[in-house]
Amino acid sequence: MSIVVTGATGELGKHVIAGLLEKVPAGEIVAAVRNVDKAAGYAAKGVVVREADYSKPETLTTAFAGATKVLLISASEVGKRFAQHKAVVDAAKAAGVQQLVYTSVLDAQQTALVLAPEHKATEEYIEASGVPFTILRNGWYNENYAQAIQQAVQFGALTHATGEGRVSAASRADFAAAAVAVLTGEDHLGKTYELAGDASFSHAELAAEIAKASGKDIANNSIDVATYTEILKGAGLEEGLAGFVAALDDDTAKGLLESKSTDLHDLIGHATKPIAATVAEALA
Ligand SMILES: NC(=O)c1ccc[n+]([C@@H]2O[C@H](COP(=O)([O-])OP(=O)(O)OC[C@H]3O[C@@H](n4cnc5c(N)ncnc54)[C@H](OP(=O)(O)O)[C@@H]3O)[C@@H](O)[C@H]2O)c1
Repeated sequence: MSIVVTGATGELGKHVIAGLLEKVPAGEIVAAVRNVDKAAGYAAKGVVVREADYSKPETLTTAFAGATKVLLISASEVGKRFAQHKAVVDAAKAAGVQQLVYTSVLDAQQTALVLAPEHKATEEYIEASGVPFTILRNGWYNENYAQAIQQAVQFGALTHATGEGRVSAASRADFAAAAVAVLTGEDHLGKTYELAGDASFSHAELAAEIAKASGKDIANNSIDVATYTEILKGAGLEEGLAGFVAALDDDTAKGLLESKSTDLHDLIGHATKPIAATVAEALA
């Protein structure tokens, strides 16, 4: 038996490897990484380290040799991801893996979320491939707000274009624990899980939480998307990136990051990390 984790040196991957090490002998875990030098810590623990670059299919073939299960942690270069994911699915199929687990996005087949099209296409490609699969539709990470929390204290205001939109975020550790649960547990084949935090929050509530934790006045500076885009550009973001970041806020305003699903709680068997805990950590 061997469990391969792609993107293993990323932030989510680190939590997954740590979780697997608690349940599986190190020698049965393969950290499939773009840069093997970054994975020296894994090798020191007995984890097998192999090169696996989503853009170099030949490395995927070698990395997946003998694999029983593969966790495909979605790639990070927007626009290139479907081709990269396709290469991973093809290599997993060629290796004859018994389970391919993929980190997708909430409600991937229906949502209008700006990030969703590559995830939707990947899910469809996986299903059509015939490889036994489990889809983990991950919600937003609490950690995505760490910088905004610190800036809110710095400027005395939380600036956003999310309106009244609510976010059902959870920590990377929670999402990683769900991945470990489906990689090491039974009866997950063919299933798709909508993974969201137990509680949702609006940015007005987030501002109030930051104020409480910091002891400072924090204004809830809710602005429109066009104004937010200009502010981001003024802060030095390139136009395309500023538009993308602002579009994510617009999607949040539309409720696309909210979910009432309890799948995450059910898979990990405990409460997800509340945003208040992430606020406290960001301010520590
Ligand atoms: N749910 C959310 O809120 C949220 C937020 C941001 C991203 N995401 C998605 O979730 C994924 C995991 O999140 P994360 O926090 O772990 O992101 P991350 O820390 O940026 O990690 C991304 C991982 O993908 C690897 N990678 C990127 N391009 C690759 C390639 N061509 N070949 C092989 N590996 C490649 C990176 O390798 P290196 O270690 O060598 O850089 C890294 O290990 C992201 O990639 C993205 O698809 C989700």
